[in-house]
Amino acid sequence: MSVVIYVPGDAAAVAVGADRVAKAFVDGLARRGVEGRVVRNGSRGMVWLEPLVEVVTPSGRVGYGPVKPKDVEALLDGGLLDGAGHDLRLGDVEKIPFFAKQERFTFKRVGVTDPVSLDDYLAHGGYKGLERAIAIGPADTVEEVFNSGLRGRGGAGFPTGIKWRTVAACAPGKKYVVCNADEGDSGTFADRMIMEGDPFQLIEGLTIAGVAVGADMGYVYCRSEYPHAIAAMNKAIVAARKAGYLGSRVAGSNYAFDMQVRVGAGAYVCGEETSLLESLEGRRGLVRAKPPLPAHKGLFGKPTVINNVLSLAAVPFIMAEGAKAYADVGFGRSRGTMPIQLAGNVKYGGLYEIAFGVTLGELVEDVAGGTFTGRDVRAVQVGGPLGAYFPRALFDTPFDYEAFAKRDGLIGHGGIVIFDDTVDMAKQARFAMEFCSVESCGKCTPCRIGSTRGVEVMDRIIAGVEREKNLAILEDLSHTMKLGSLCALGGFTPYPVMSALTHFPEDFGRGPMPLAAE
Ligand SMILES: Cc1cc2nc3c(=O)[nH]c(=O)nc-3n(C[C@H](O)[C@H](O)[C@H](O)COP(=O)(O)O)c2cc1C
Ligand code: SF4
Repeated sequence: MSVVIYVPGDAAAVAVGADRVAKAFVDGLARRGVEGRVVRNGSRGMVWLEPLVEVVTPSGRVGYGPVKPKDVEALLDGGLLDGAGHDLRLGDVEKIPFFAKQERFTFKRVGVTDPVSLDDYLAHGGYKGLERAIAIGPADTVEEVFNSGLRGRGGAGFPTGIKWRTVAACAPGKKYVVCNADEGDSGTFADRMIMEGDPFQLIEGLTIAGVAVGADMGYVYCRSEYPHAIAAMNKAIVAARKAGYLGSRVAGSNYAFDMQVRVGAGAYVCGEETSLLESLEGRRGLVRAKPPLPAHKGLFGKPTVINNVLSLAAVPFIMAEGAKAYADVGFGRSRGTMPIQLAGNVKYGGLYEIAFGVTLGELVEDVAGGTFTGRDVRAVQVGGPLGAYFPRALFDTPFDYEAFAKRDGLIGHGGIVIFDDTVDMAKQARFAMEFCSVESCGKCTPCRIGSTRGVEVMDRIIAGVEREKNLAILEDLSHTMKLGSLCALGGFTPYPVMSALTHFPEDFGRGPMPLAAE
C-alpha cells in the first residue's frame, strides 16, 4: 500500500525547516523501498508545532511535531507509518484543544488538502459555491452575500453585500474584481495561509464575485514578501483555467471570468484600496481622494469590487452552505467567523478561526496561553499598526467590530500582538508615529508632516523634556491627524499613540489615570 505523509509547504513551516523534513522523508522512504508520497499541505495553524507532519493510517491521520530533519530516521524506524508512539506524537491533530475549539468555515480545508490539487479541492466540497451562484444568478448571489452579514475583513468592516450591490448596479460594461492580498498589518498572516493552503477557494471567491457583479476580470494584488503564496496562486490559476473554471465559459456557464496575480513593490500604504489601484495601474502608490468610490470608478476608471482575501475566501462557504449558516454564528452585527491571528510574545501562536464574540481575554490567556517568555501580559495590540493597545483591564471586550470601536480600538484584519510586562509603551507610541512617517504616501499634510513632528515630540517626552507641555502637543497633534488625514494611515495612527497614553500613563511620566468611562 502506498503511504501518504503530509509535510506543510506553508512559509511558516518552511521557515523552521519543513523543506528539509520533507526531503528527509522522501529519502527515508526510498531507502526503505517504501512506496509513498510526501504531500506539501498548508499549515493547520498551530505554528509552535511546525513542522507538523501527518501520516495517513487506516485509523485516520496521525500528527507528529515539531519534527526536525534529524528526527525523521528515528520516526520511520519507530513505526511512524503505522502511527506508532514517539515523544513527538500528537495523535489526531484535530483533537488538540487549540484546534478542536475552532469553528473553521474559511479555513476548513487548510492543512487538510493538497493546496494545488484541483481534484482534492473538488473532493472536499470545492466549487459547490460557484455552482450555486451560477444556478441562482447574479442578483440572488449578491443578496445571499448581503444576507450572510459578511463584512470586509481587510480592516474597515464594510458590508460586502452592499459593496457588491453598488458595483452590480453600475451600467453593464467593463468591471473588475480586485483582491487585496497586500496583508501589511503587523502580526497577520491569514491571507498568506489561505493563498498557500487553499488557493482554489480564493479563486472561487473571486469568480463568484465576478459572476455576481458582472465583472469578467480579476486581479490578486499580493505583497512581494509572499513568494510561496504567489507560486501557489499561479499554479492553481493555471489548473482552474485548464479545467474550465476560469475562462470564457466558467464551469460551462455563459459567464466569462479570468484572473491574474500582480505583485506589489512593498509599501504598507499600497494596502489602502485607492493606493493599491494606483499601483496596479503602474503608478506610485498614492492615495486617491474619495469620491469617486472604487465601486463606481475604480481600476482603470471602471466599477471595481475591492475585497480582502478573507472576505472573498468566505464567499464559497456562504454560497455552498447558505447565508443563514454563516449568519447564524457571531455577535451583534459581526456575523460569521473571524480568522484571528495570535502573534508577538506568545506561547501558542497561530491561526484561530472562531465565531465573533469570544473575549480578548479568552483569546490571549486561554487560547494563546499568555506569553512565550512566561511573564505577565501587559498589553496587546489588536488590528495591526493602526490598532489600539489594550491593557488587561479591557480583556472583557468581545471580539466584535462595534465593541472594539466603543473602546477606541479596532479589530482590523484580526491580528493580535501580545507584549509582556517588559514593554515600554512610550517607545511603542513613538514607534507608531515613526511607522506612519516612514510609510506615509505624502499626499496630505497632517500625516506627512504630523507624523514626523510626532516622532520629535515623542523623543522629547521620552527624554523628559517639558513633559506636560509636550504631552499636550502630542494630544493636539493626534487630534489633528485623526480629523484631518485623507486616509486611515494618518487618521488611525493616533489610536496606538493615544491608547498607550491613556492606558499606560506611567510610561509617559504621568501618574495612573482612571480608564475613560464608556
Ligand atoms: C494604510 C492602509 C493599509 C491597508 N492595508 C490593507 C491590506 O493590507 N489588506 C486589506 O485587505 N486591506 C487593507 N486596507 C483596507 C483597504 O483600504 C480596504 O478597506 C479593503 O481592501 C476593502 O476590502 P474588504 O471590504 O474586504 O475589507 C488598508 C487601509 C489602509 C488605510
Ligand atoms: S493620511 Fe498619509 S498615507 Fe493617507 S493620504 Fe494622507 S499622507 Fe497619504
